[in-house]
Amino acid sequence: MMVFKYVWLLPLFVSVYLLYSNDYLNDIRLDSVEKWLNIVKNAYTNMNKNSNLVLDVNHKMFTSDELRKYTNLKDGLYISILGHVFDVTKGEKYYGPGAAYHGFTGRDGSLAFITGQFDDNGLTDDISSLSMEQIKALNDWVQFYNETYIYKGKLIGRYYNEDGVPTEEFYNIQQILIEAKEKQFEEEHKKRMFPPCNIEWKPDSGTVVWCSKKSGGIERDWIGVPRMLFESPSSKQYRCACVKLDSKEYEESKGMLKEYTKCPKTAIKCALQTNDL
Ligand code: HEM
Repeated sequence: MMVFKYVWLLPLFVSVYLLYSNDYLNDIRLDSVEKWLNIVKNAYTNMNKNSNLVLDVNHKMFTSDELRKYTNLKDGLYISILGHVFDVTKGEKYYGPGAAYHGFTGRDGSLAFITGQFDDNGLTDDISSLSMEQIKALNDWVQFYNETYIYKGKLIGRYYNEDGVPTEEFYNIQQILIEAKEKQFEEEHKKRMFPPCNIEWKPDSGTVVWCSKKSGGIERDWIGVPRMLFESPSSKQYRCACVKLDSKEYEESKGMLKEYTKCPKTAIKCALQTNDL
């Protein structure tokens, strides 16, 4: 019966797994992933609003006062990060009394994981000042603790209510993490669609750039043609990129691409002229 009770959680876990598993999503449209996550998120919020379901049956919900006890070796050394509580006693040399990171124990000092400000002002769970990249870095710390230490439960407060239900603030952060992941996918996708060219210089022939099925460390099933790829339409900075002429990405980025002088449109190899350098 218990199995059936929690079976609705499956799509949530699958979604989270998809988001954080390597390149699996590369070929899936990002907007559909986001839509799917929103559906799961809404279902998840609504179900929890309508019940007193405690998600982590085996884990504890800590109050701030309870967590505050875990700052010594007798009771244990616990930290909280984004509302996730971990037993870090085995890292006594980092977190024990007098150690460099003792300040993290007994509370949620999420912000200090990024700012390095380990005083009472810096050790706060309010991370509203952080950028998308910094929130991503903070989430990497959560993963580090998950992999390295013992997960004990959740802290009641900013990120979870007393029933273990995530708060609006928790979802805002998840949304930012989704956006960060999408941005990363887009950048990786762009890098794959505009891989760097091979390049060679010889005293007699000068600089030659060319494309092949593996250039710039990117293996693919197309060769492409060399083009100057500018950082922006107004930028003077460019690099040589191999471009697939029948791709959507080529159409979308034409404003930032320029042909090499005296190099035929579809040539896969170009000898650079002095004004190309
Ligand atoms: C934002 C600033 C920083 C934060 C939040 C931070 C946080 C941490 C934490 C939590 C640990 C313990 C990891 C564990 O449980 O295994 C750690 C370890 C360590 N940190 Fe930092 N740290 C910061 C900056 C620095 C800097 C600037 C240095 C060096 C000058 C440094 C050197 C170290 C070293 C050497 C270890 C031990 C690594 C090991 O032995 O495995 N940290 N840091």
